[in-house]
Amino acid sequence: MTILVTGGAGFIGANFIFHMLSQHPDYRIVCLDKLTYAGNLSTLASVMDNPNFRFVKLDICDRAGVYHLFEEEHPDIVVNFAAESHVDRSIENPEVFLQTNILGTQVLMDACRKFGIRRFHQVSTDEVYGDLPLDRPDLFFTEQTPIHTSSPYSASKASADLLVLAYHRTFGLPVTISRCSNNYGPYQFPEKLIPLMIANALNDKPLPVYGKGENVRDWLYVEDHCRAIDLILHKGREGEVYNIGGHNEMRNIDIVKIICKALGKHESLITFVTDRKGHDRRYAIDPAKIHSELGWLPETKFESGIQKTIAWYLDNRQWWEAIISGEYQDYYRKMYAKR
Ligand code: NAD
Ligand code: DAU
Repeated sequence: MTILVTGGAGFIGANFIFHMLSQHPDYRIVCLDKLTYAGNLSTLASVMDNPNFRFVKLDICDRAGVYHLFEEEHPDIVVNFAAESHVDRSIENPEVFLQTNILGTQVLMDACRKFGIRRFHQVSTDEVYGDLPLDRPDLFFTEQTPIHTSSPYSASKASADLLVLAYHRTFGLPVTISRCSNNYGPYQFPEKLIPLMIANALNDKPLPVYGKGENVRDWLYVEDHCRAIDLILHKGREGEVYNIGGHNEMRNIDIVKIICKALGKHESLITFVTDRKGHDRRYAIDPAKIHSELGWLPETKFESGIQKTIAWYLDNRQWWEAIISGEYQDYYRKMYAKR
């Protein structure tokens, strides 16, 4: 079994590669990644010498390069993590989001059609459902919730989902889609809420909370997400969408306070800044389908997951310090100076 994992030098893709190599030692994993600002080869250092692993630096939009790789590897399964993934960046510059997230997905699916595939799995997001009001805790996203996007990022992910379902219906491509809530855990790029707050707190820098910090996200430990995708690949039904989430809703401000407490930092570091444009209020996944059909449930409780994550960032300072000492500085100034 050869699995092509795109975007495997990023946060979730890398964790998925670790999961698959340990759970399926007889599988060959080929990682294709463009190594954008978010891709980090050092994340994959521990598997680089594994004979069942190959890394290829490639853009999913590079049709000739992708076809060449399919000719060489003839993957049985493609899992597409490759994407521009940060909402704030999509508000600054939408174009690359449309290129990678939509057209890149098309190139991969065209390769699957040309060379044959047992499964094309698209890693999508709960953001395709838009947001829920803060005062309706009874409402959740199901797979039937209409697509209703807010940011250029979520619009690009929703477009890709529609294209994936169109390739299934029109060409019979054997696809599955998973829509997951916010992930946290090791190797997350420090532009995202949790690692950004950990890094800033450790450096005694202000903790920039958008708006009043009342927005709610449904947090899932990354390993639980990887396990869910593994199950969908092996037992999921073709043409189906599966929501993945942990019934673990938290307000941003409460997350930041937990991080302050765990690191022994004073809450006076918290700084309320101008809100994100079009900021989604609440995400909340109903994971009943993946639970009843595939028996999946999240295993890591937030209380232990966040402590494991904080410990990882404390033990692996060189990983994130190398990131925040580079071009990240310009990004940070641009995004936060005027907030
Ligand atoms: P990430 O930004 O950490 O990693 C993205 C990876 O894709 C990087 O390694 C990058 O180099 C690579 N990449 C980007 N453009 C590429 C291109 N054109 N060709 C090849 N590689 C390219 O993202 P992440 O947080 O790991 O998210 C992975 C996937 O999961 C994305 O599709 C995202 O939409 C989805 N998702 C993320 C979350 C979350 O909470 N992080 C939740 C639900 C879904
Ligand atoms: O829900 C799944 C999505 O989760 C994924 O599809 C995206 O790829 C992923 O980036 C994430 O999107 P969010 O926008 O929810 O994540 P982010 O970490 O950027 O922000 C989480 C919340 O924290 C959000 O309400 C905005 C807020 N925030 C974020 C940052 C970076 C702050 O208050 N301050 C910050 O500095």
